[in-house]
Amino acid sequence: MYDPETYWIERGKTYEERFVRRAAHASQEEAILAALEGKGYRSILEVGCGFGRIGALLIKKVPVDYLGIDPSPDQAIAAAKRLGIDFTPEEEVSFRASTGWEVTRETRAGTRAIRCVSLEDFVAEPQAAADLVVAVEVLMHQPPETVGAFAETLRRQSRRYVLTADWDVPVAGRIAPWNFLHDYPSILGPVKRTAAGPRQGVYVGRGLAR
Ligand SMILES: C[S@@+](CC[C@H](N)C(=O)[O-])C[C@H]1O[C@@H](n2cnc3c(N)ncnc32)[C@H](O)[C@@H]1O
Repeated sequence: MYDPETYWIERGKTYEERFVRRAAHASQEEAILAALEGKGYRSILEVGCGFGRIGALLIKKVPVDYLGIDPSPDQAIAAAKRLGIDFTPEEEVSFRASTGWEVTRETRAGTRAIRCVSLEDFVAEPQAAADLVVAVEVLMHQPPETVGAFAETLRRQSRRYVLTADWDVPVAGRIAPWNFLHDYPSILGPVKRTAAGPRQGVYVGRGLAR
């Protein structure tokens, strides 16, 4: 039985080294940047930032404060390094063994921060909303029973926009137990979809925080 938390902490140990960059990733990244073109935002919360693939792109685009969160210590460490946040080898050993830590770096283009935490634990304490909340290939791994509440939490953490990207076109045959097809407009509220390659969609909706 798929348990998201244990699955992603275990998979996070080898996710980056096993990641194979395909054409679909390039088209997804282009579609994400295109969907954000002309949008005004000064702060980003990226939920499920993984090893920093999308975060590194987003911080190049405009001066922003960026916070990436991920419950996998290995993914969060990799994301921090990719975003240019340094830490000592001793810190790395202790980060790898735990969650709840955060590393931050101030730059002239804004703050870069990574926190090792799940979305659920992050919002268990009040958190300031961001202008833009991003979650790429994260909702598709949430089971149908919890995806609605997860998406609602993304919207509540955003003052302006929520951008999600997922594989959303049905395929023949069985899909892996950790992948789900959701009806994104029904869980994200009024939303605009743009295609990112033949089977993926990028969705931009409105945040609920005021
Ligand atoms: C398929 S990976 C995508 C990583 C990254 N967004 C990318 O596209 O390269 C899914 C990520 O979501 C994270 N994740 C899973 N459950 C989460 C939760 N409850 N809160 C925050 N992140 C979660 C996983 O640890 C994993 O890094």
